[in-house]
Amino acid sequence: MFLHESQLRHVLPPRAYFAPEQYQQELDRCLLSGWHLVASMGDFKRDGDYVTLDLFNKPLLVRRIDGEAHVYLNICGHRHCMLVSKPKGHEKAFRCQYHGWEYQCDGRTAKIPDAQSFRPFDRENARILKYRSERCGDLIFVNLSSDGPSLKDQLAETYQPIADAFSQPFRQIWGWNTTYPANWKIAIENLLESYHIPCLHQKTFGVMPPEEMIIHEMNDRWTSFYTEDVNPWIKSNARRTARALGLPFRGMYTQYHVYPNLVFILMDTFSLAKMVVPTSPTTSQAIVRVFGPYGPRRTPLAWISARLNTLVAKEGARKILEEDASIFAAAQKGMESSPVSGVIGRREERVWAFQDWIRRKCGIVEPKSHALPVLDPSSR
Ligand code: FES
Ligand SMILES: [Fe+2]
Repeated sequence: MFLHESQLRHVLPPRAYFAPEQYQQELDRCLLSGWHLVASMGDFKRDGDYVTLDLFNKPLLVRRIDGEAHVYLNICGHRHCMLVSKPKGHEKAFRCQYHGWEYQCDGRTAKIPDAQSFRPFDRENARILKYRSERCGDLIFVNLSSDGPSLKDQLAETYQPIADAFSQPFRQIWGWNTTYPANWKIAIENLLESYHIPCLHQKTFGVMPPEEMIIHEMNDRWTSFYTEDVNPWIKSNARRTARALGLPFRGMYTQYHVYPNLVFILMDTFSLAKMVVPTSPTTSQAIVRVFGPYGPRRTPLAWISARLNTLVAKEGARKILEEDASIFAAAQKGMESSPVSGVIGRREERVWAFQDWIRRKCGIVEPKSHALPVLDPSSR
């Protein structure tokens, strides 16, 4: 059931989806102090493996050292060259590509060629910056600010179910980093409603679940969508896979949106994590990691079932994400030209909740008549 009893107003005006001053407010008040998904342990097979990415225009390096992932500013302490330039790779030594300076796990220098010419050594000005990083299951998150809440604080009640869904026997089956020609909120809002399913996902999900099969939860830190009305084909594949692998089967679909920009989809044999961050007022980037189970049963039949599930899950996720992304440019163009503020349906109430969270964080005055009554779910 939905929590609102009548339609809602847009809390954010179309201008909030392209105006540079709103973009800056969101960076300062909503995004820069938060935890951001950068990779998963599934991206690394051995120590020395690394991935690079840009986050808020900062080049980052995520490197596996002694079995754990560490996140650094990808800039050398010598003369500021990027340590490595490839999107991913393996380097046995933690070394800068320009003059070969080597670093330790804590970011201090290790071996320096022709070290005597740098004496006396200025150790504090010749190190690389290491960021706070934490894991939830095998998902790796970074925080660019040096203080503030832990990842567990930000994920709150969602922490444990997410940790369970992204760790053994689940492992990464697909990783995808991409960019969108749209404001980051357009890509997030797309994930928060089932209303677009008949138009955009006709060949995949098919129909949207009826209201009585949906449970929405909304609070100040996250919102969720829960249903057991899953596409029959997806459900029977999950049931078959779960049975072969010795996993419990509940036939449910749970989606969490943890404010401001993290979305997690949890099913019996499929988990998806997606982060969207802005790259400008009108463009954004997404990081996606998909996990599937390999175990606990390890018979040949279980392995074949896990492989088949991997193929189905990977292809299904790619298709659905592409179907969603196909609308982003049109949604952005519309935002930049709309003469009216628009409306939001009850089924889209999590979009409303997200906009209202942004409004409060950014100190935007509440628009008149947008605050419509919220039903007490216990009265249903
Ligand atoms: S800039 Fe990295 S070693 Fe010189
Ligand atoms: Fe969608």
